[in-house]
Formats: sequence, C-alpha cells, structure tokens
Amino acid sequence: MSDLWSKLRETAIHYGVGSYSRHVFLCLGPNCCSAEEGRAAWEALKRELKVQGLSMSQGPNACYRTKADCLRICCGGPILVVYPEGTWYAQMTADRIPRFVQEHLIEGRPVKEWVFITNPLPREAADPRG
Ligand code: FES
Repeated sequence: MSDLWSKLRETAIHYGVGSYSRHVFLCLGPNCCSAEEGRAAWEALKRELKVQGLSMSQGPNACYRTKADCLRICCGGPILVVYPEGTWYAQMTADRIPRFVQEHLIEGRPVKEWVFITNPLPREAADPRG
C-alpha cells in the first residue's frame, strides 16, 4: 500500500470513519441564513455531538458532521440534512440543535415540524409519500 493510501486510511480511522451510522451536513450560509447564524448553529452542533458522545464515537448512534457552504436550497436556513435517512431540516438555528440531536440522532425520531422534505438513501428505501 502506498504512503498516500496509508495516510488516508490512518486519517479516516482517526476520525472514526467506518463506524458511523449517520452523517449530518449543515449549511453555514450565506444565502439561506446569515454567516453569524450559520456559525452559531455549527458551534452548537459540534458541542452537542461531543456532549452526547456521538462524535468520534464507536457507539450505535455515532455521527459524522460536515459543514457545507450551500445545499442549494438557499432560503429558510440554516439548512441541515441527515443521511442515510435523507431528512432535510429548515431554520436550524443554534437553539434548535440540542432538541434535534436528542430526538433525531439519539432517539431516532425526526423533529417533524422542522422537516420540509425527505430523500432516504438508498433511493429504493424511500417512501414516495414522504
Ligand atoms: S446558502 Fe444555504 S442552502 Fe444555499
């Protein structure tokens, strides 16, 4: 194995890739929300995942997180999407993050009133009625 592949695998394993059951993408704006709102939501997400033991975890609810600079919705943000469920959330300001982490990521119950569409992956698992 080349040095590059070894380094890639080593880095991925360091961050727990291979043990996650979910991946959360959060848009930090600037079109769906202000940069300040996006940054505050990101800091809240990082903090809550850490406090709840979901980040850098091998547990059943282990969750990877990624900040995005546009998820192509561009209004009603911060926009957040969770995979593999493909649950798309709107207006995910910092104050909403703790409830989202508790109910969706820990208890497995999406916060329906904040969800505007779903697109589970793989696609054949999707319920066309949403
Ligand atoms: S800027 Fe957030 S979805 Fe486009």
